[in-house]
Amino acid sequence: MIASIHFEDDKKTLQVEASQPLTKICDEHPVSILFGCRCVACGTCLIEILSGMDNLSPIREEERILLDILVPDHPNLRLACQCVVQGDIRIRVAN
Ligand code: FES
Repeated sequence: MIASIHFEDDKKTLQVEASQPLTKICDEHPVSILFGCRCVACGTCLIEILSGMDNLSPIREEERILLDILVPDHPNLRLACQCVVQGDIRIRVAN
C-alpha cells in the first residue's frame, strides 16, 4: 500500500510504501524534521499531525511519558522518531 506524506514546512508530498518508520523516510528524503536521540529522550523530533493521526502507529508508553512532560494537553503532537507511517498524513515541525 502506498501512503502520501505531506510535509507542510517543506511544501513537499512524498508517496512511499506504507508500514515504514518515519525516521527511515526522512533519512531517504531530507525534510525539516530534526532527529536527535531517535530513542524517546530528547524531544527534538516533535511534530504536529495536521491530518491522518489514525494513520500512524499507536503511541507507546515511553512516548506517552515524554509527550506528557513536553507538551501536555496537545493530542495532535507526536515524536516523529516513534511513528510508523500506515497511511496518508500531513505533518509539520512543532518545536
Ligand atoms: S529524536 Fe529524540 S525523541 Fe525523537
